[in-house]
Amino acid sequence: MHAIGIDIGGSGIKGAPVDLNTGELAAERFRIPTPEASTPQAVADIVAEVVEHFDLDSTIPVGVTFPAPIIHGVVPWIANLDDSWEGVAVEQLLSERLNRPTLAVNDADAAGYAEVEYGAAKGCTGTVLVTTLGTGIGSALIINEQLVPNTELGHLILPNGKEAEAYASSAVRSKKDLGWSSWAKRLQVVYSQYERLLNPDLFIVGGGVSRKSEKFLPLLDLTAPIRPAALRNTAGIVGAARLAADTL
Ligand code: BGC
Repeated sequence: MHAIGIDIGGSGIKGAPVDLNTGELAAERFRIPTPEASTPQAVADIVAEVVEHFDLDSTIPVGVTFPAPIIHGVVPWIANLDDSWEGVAVEQLLSERLNRPTLAVNDADAAGYAEVEYGAAKGCTGTVLVTTLGTGIGSALIINEQLVPNTELGHLILPNGKEAEAYASSAVRSKKDLGWSSWAKRLQVVYSQYERLLNPDLFIVGGGVSRKSEKFLPLLDLTAPIRPAALRNTAGIVGAARLAADTL
């Protein structure tokens, strides 16, 4: 069985059909750069172009990730995409534009769901906190393999008064040209706080930089184990596709 996953990010809109038995992409990923003015209409047009690229049956569901919370299909606010998304009923907009069953989901929640179904959180009981380190910090809280959506822990205010993602995202590491150990010190502040508040049994770290996890994860001192995500840049696509198939 297949479903289509689309990942909307600050720099690119990427998608592919997903083989739901294996969690692997069933065709090569197709990517279009996110338009400069990433308004709902402009993004919806590109999502449609990505979906149509695969020429698949119109009954196949589509899961779309967003870098924002999605509350019952609506974007309440958004940090890293055009402000005009605020209040948009994104699920309705996209299902009408695509003319297919369409589900919208927060990007980190999609990645977390993919880790539960196919990756590093598969079969894990207890509390797992999946975080994605990228432009922002995304979070997916999973309890006994059930996703608790829209946790938004990247916006937690740290004891030093700074917001977690403004202090320690992967984008901040690049912008400030931080070395691995300086960045790990910032991550330590963030993850210590997550640990104090949630006491997870396991941390999983995704996002592009998790490819280099051996450079910074061993520097962190936490009670719970902290491991890299198993799915790399396909996690959002795979999780959104699977969630669409499981939900719609
Ligand atoms: C957004 C989250 C998103 C994360 C990663 C944050 O700024 O508020 O919804 O999951 O960035 O993209």
